[in-house]
Amino acid sequence: MGAPRYDRFARWLHALMGLALLAQIGFGFALDELAPRGTPARAGVINLHKSWGLILLGLLLLRLFWRLRQPSPGWPARMSRAQTLAALWGHRALYACMLLMPLSAYLASNFSKHGIKFFGHAIAPWGPESPAVYAALNGFHKGLAWVFCALILGHIAMALKHHFVDRDGLLQRIWP
Ligand code: HEM
Ligand code: HEM
Repeated sequence: MGAPRYDRFARWLHALMGLALLAQIGFGFALDELAPRGTPARAGVINLHKSWGLILLGLLLLRLFWRLRQPSPGWPARMSRAQTLAALWGHRALYACMLLMPLSAYLASNFSKHGIKFFGHAIAPWGPESPAVYAALNGFHKGLAWVFCALILGHIAMALKHHFVDRDGLLQRIWP
């Protein structure tokens, strides 16, 4: 019997979402370059970012549902208590960012007259137009993006440490 791994679906979803999130973050930071404010291309490009962001929110909900039904394989015995606690809270923080990034911006969009065009299909905003609420939620989205980037960098660094320094097979457990 081999060492316990994440199941096939969890492994593929981790890889798919990892790549898609990195692309979405790059897309977000490139928005002003791709379509500067006030240009005709702006609305289309922003709505593409919004549409993919909502797809990622849907994938995250599927992932959380799956994860709660199918627990993780547990930690290698060599990890200290401090290490497993850091990993646990690091992973929780990544899940929180995956949830709050799209959720904050989705909420923001409902306090703006522009609302969301989901791949061209207009979804009317359910909130009143409020520049103050929009600015607060949008500011949260933009601030959290940096926290998310820092967490992802730390996460990748730790994954590489497990693979090349500790050589404990942790990376193989989640690699498709
Ligand atoms: C996991 C999903 C998402 C990620 C990782 C993400 C990431 C980002 C990033 C990195 C930026 C650039 C921030 C900056 O310029 O400092 C950005 C901007 C933006 N995002 Fe997202 N986003 C996601 C989902 C969404 C969703 C669902 C919406 C709306 C429904 C949205 C609406 C926006 C808007 C309007 C901006 C431009 C903000 C501005 O410049 O004022 N995003 N996003
Ligand atoms: C946007 C990028 C990424 C995000 C948001 C992310 C998120 C996560 C989360 C939330 C977990 C915890 C899984 C659970 O127990 O439910 C996890 C585990 C893990 N991820 Fe990532 N990940 C990303 C990219 C990567 C990359 C690029 C690598 C490899 C270089 C990687 C390697 C790992 C490893 C080794 C584990 C632990 C597996 C185990 O416990 O056996 N991740 N990731």
